[in-house]
Amino acid sequence: MRLDITTLPGDGVGPEVTREAVRVLRTVLDLYGYEVSFEEHAVGGVAIRQFGAPLPEATARACMESHAVLLGAVGGPEFDSLPPGQRPEAGLLGLRQALGGFANLRPAIAYSAIADCSPLRPDILKGVDILIVRELLGGIYFGEPRGFSASPGPAASNTMRYSEAEIERVAHVAFRQARMRHRKVTSVDKANVLETSQLWRQTVTRVAREYPEIRLDHMYVDACAMRLITHPGSFDVIVTENLFGDILSDEAAVISGSLGMLASATIGGKVDLYEPVHGSAPDIAGRGIANPLGAIASAALLLRHSTGLEQGAQDVEDAIREVLDKGYRTADLSPQQGESGQRGRAKRVVSTTEMGALVESAVADVVDRRRAYHAV
Ligand code: IPM
Ligand code: MN
Repeated sequence: MRLDITTLPGDGVGPEVTREAVRVLRTVLDLYGYEVSFEEHAVGGVAIRQFGAPLPEATARACMESHAVLLGAVGGPEFDSLPPGQRPEAGLLGLRQALGGFANLRPAIAYSAIADCSPLRPDILKGVDILIVRELLGGIYFGEPRGFSASPGPAASNTMRYSEAEIERVAHVAFRQARMRHRKVTSVDKANVLETSQLWRQTVTRVAREYPEIRLDHMYVDACAMRLITHPGSFDVIVTENLFGDILSDEAAVISGSLGMLASATIGGKVDLYEPVHGSAPDIAGRGIANPLGAIASAALLLRHSTGLEQGAQDVEDAIREVLDKGYRTADLSPQQGESGQRGRAKRVVSTTEMGALVESAVADVVDRRRAYHAV
């Protein structure tokens, strides 16, 4: 089996974390007898600087011709004054549209070893494992009309729009994911104010009839924002529209202890796209201290969704857990104030590259151990 993967390291810490994800991916695929080739292309700010556009034609073409795309991050302060359509982010949004993936899966998991990195109490975090399914190609991100206007005075507008078909297809993804998990879906909207949300709620409710084994409840986004923090353990799968999902998934990072831990998979289109949830973090870029675990966990999602290597995906996820259990931390994983005693004690802080190397060798161990076990 041969895999062609396009890598788009992008801006800021993107290249540093992508390098580590590629390293782990290479090792796992090799252990499973896959042949893999990685081809790197420019997207975002780096593409603007090199080619004058955030999504060069060659990048889009390479992505469309590969089995999967692994992206780092886009964006940077030097582009802050550009209009939305010319910014690095426009490259990512254009890429998402071109690839066609409409369901963005963002797992938020509480790792027990780093529970002390979350400001939430350990008893609130215990066993939390949420999957946010964010609609990625509709809503206010893409709705027309949009733009600035000048008279009678300066104003700007965006349009939140959803078709029934767009809601249906992402709802199906959420229910199918819930089947493999704890069989509960929470649909998040603002149906007390927005028409798009009323359509969302009706449509999700109707789709749910095809999944009688799944429990469905509905929640307003403001209430959900609070409940994610007070009772994260009450969620299994959350399905929501684009902007709400963007906001709630950053909030859910509090559960894992750092935004650097969160991974994502964008599925349902022609080519699936994998990227950590965190941004380009220009303030720490180039210092070798970024957390590559979100990018590495995104590589695990690639194994799961684009190659069918479920076991390989679990190997990577087990390796991440093992490395954390041994006490290794990147700089962002520091104990929160107020934690003291055993759990608050300083752990081994490692660089981005060291963390990647640790996961890589832990993966090899995990696979070895399992194979040895099955051989006896
Ligand atoms: C994300 C990011 C992007 C988004 C930006 C960079 C366009 O915040 O993936 O969550 O808003 O979707
Ligand atoms: Mn975001």
